Amino acid sequence: MPMSEIFTGSFTQQEPIPEDGIEAAIAVMRSGRIHRYNLAEGELGETALLEQEFAAQVGAKYALAVASGGAAMTTALRAAGVQPGDPVLSNAFTLAPVPGAIAAVGAVPVYVGVTEDLTIDLDDLQIKADQASVLLLSHMRGHICDMDRLMAICDEAGIRVIEDCAHTMGASWNGTPSGRHGIAGCYSCQTYKHVNAGEGGFLVTDDADLAARAIMLSGSYMLFERHLAAPPPEAFTQVKYETPNISSRMDNLRAAILRPQLRQLEILGVSYFTCVNASGGGAARWRSKSI
Ligand SMILES: Cc1ncc(COP(=O)(O)O)c(C=O)c1O
Repeated sequence: MPMSEIFTGSFTQQEPIPEDGIEAAIAVMRSGRIHRYNLAEGELGETALLEQEFAAQVGAKYALAVASGGAAMTTALRAAGVQPGDPVLSNAFTLAPVPGAIAAVGAVPVYVGVTEDLTIDLDDLQIKADQASVLLLSHMRGHICDMDRLMAICDEAGIRVIEDCAHTMGASWNGTPSGRHGIAGCYSCQTYKHVNAGEGGFLVTDDADLAARAIMLSGSYMLFERHLAAPPPEAFTQVKYETPNISSRMDNLRAAILRPQLRQLEILGVSYFTCVNASGGGAARWRSKSI
C-alpha cells in the first residue's frame, strides 16, 4: 500500500467548508429555496446539480442524493425489491447503520466472516452464497476485498451486490470506482466522511427501474422530472403508482456545501481511504496512490 502522504492532522476535527461552498449556502439561504424541489423559473437547483456532478464523477447513469448514508442503503435495498423476512448477506465487521438498513426493510442479515485484512472473507461468502440473493457489502475502514473474485462468486450464485462506500468515496479497485461493481453504490456525506454536509448520502446505479423506485421512495412528490441524473419519465410510468414515499431527501443547503467539496476530491485526483481512530468515532482522509 504505497503512501504518498501521511496524515498528520486531527482524527476528529474536520477541515472548514470551502469558501465557495459557504458562499453558495448563503445564496441558498437568501433565496429561501432550501427544499430541493422549490425552484425559481429556469433554476436547476443545487441538489439536482450535485446529483448530476456525482453521477459523472463515478461514471454512473443515475444518482440520487438523500438524507444519510443509512437512508441510501435502506432505499437501495427497498428499491431492489428486498422484502420483509428476506435474508441479506453482509460482512460481520461493519458499522451499525449497515445491519440497520437491512433491519429497516424488515430483512434478516446473514453475516459473512472477515479476514485479518478486515475485508469480507470470500471463502465464507462462497459457502453462504446459496443463502440469499442480495449482498450488502461494506468496504469497512476503506479496505476493499478482491472485487473480481467477489463479483465472480456473486454473479455465479445470482447474488445482486449493493456496495456501502461510506469509507471508500473516491477509491477504486482495478480502475473501477467503488460503488460501481454491483447494482447500486451507497455513500455517506456525514461529517466524519470524505465530504462533509453534516448529514447526507448518495445512491448511484445504472438500473433505470431501481433509480426510478429510489427517487419515488426518497419523496419526489411526482416532481421526478426536476432531477438531472434520473432515468427518463417512462421509467416512472408504473413505478409512481406502486412505490411508497419514505421521505429522505437531500436539501439545497447541504448540496450547496457539498458541490465544491466533490470538486476538490476530483482535483486531487488520488484514491482515498478512510481511517477511523481507535475509538471508532473519528475518520480522516489519507492521500494514497492506491488502495
Ligand atoms: C461503514 C459505514 N457505513 C454506513 C454508514 C452510514 O452513514 P450515515 O451516518 O450517513 O448514515 C457509516 C457511518 O458512519 C459507516 O461508517
